[in-house]
Amino acid sequence: MNPTPVHVAIIMDGNGRWASQRGLKRSEGHKAGAESVRKALKAAMAAEVRVLTLYAFSTENWGRPQDEVQGLFELLSRYLESEADELLRRGVRLSAIGDIEAMPAPVRDGLAAAEATAMNEAITLNLALSYGSRAELARAARLLADEVRRGARTVESITPEAVEQKLWTNLLPDPDLLIRTGGDMRASNFLLWQCAYTELYFTPTLWPDFGEDDFAAALEEYGRRERRYGLCGA
Ligand code: FPP
Repeated sequence: MNPTPVHVAIIMDGNGRWASQRGLKRSEGHKAGAESVRKALKAAMAAEVRVLTLYAFSTENWGRPQDEVQGLFELLSRYLESEADELLRRGVRLSAIGDIEAMPAPVRDGLAAAEATAMNEAITLNLALSYGSRAELARAARLLADEVRRGARTVESITPEAVEQKLWTNLLPDPDLLIRTGGDMRASNFLLWQCAYTELYFTPTLWPDFGEDDFAAALEEYGRRERRYGLCGA
């Protein structure tokens, strides 16, 4: 049995389909999805997971209709505003990865409130916002190239560890478990470097239907996996 995963990452897919199955607007699906975020955080805390990373807005999501993008930003800023005190009280450290500067002011303001949670230790709730692995890796390459140009490092010093230090996830451990809801089995430009040895868990359950029991079921399945990291089995 594997112990509880330290870091769980989730691709929260299926909000749109959940809404259309009910004859609702997609925005209603995202709203229901925000409720599932609360449930997942609760379940992760109960299981003593230390980092929960949620793919809330990808670099590709900018291409969605303007009103959907706007609705997602409003939902995110409302979530950050309404939960800030609660997160602080429950020992949740809020952090974010991605091109945060690209996010609109109300979302950035909501994240600024996160600074108050910096000393919390129960769990890190890490939101991926305007996040894409390709953008993250290209940025890391630019940062390293700039250091070489300035004479601050040699080309030979560019090791996997050096790349890792330039990723948005720099201070976080790699995910042990990646959950994707909604039935599709793909990575969608999410944590591609960090998931080199991550256990993948796919479920057809749509994100708004994903509850505490579903989270527990994913952890149970993870517990049964044999992690070999490219080595031989036991
Ligand atoms: C994918 O479902 C989901 C998103 C693009 C947005 C995720 C956002 C939330 C769950 C709500 C807010 C988040 C927080 C942290 C409060 P989809 O729209 O692609 O669904 P579909 O594949 O069924 O169309």
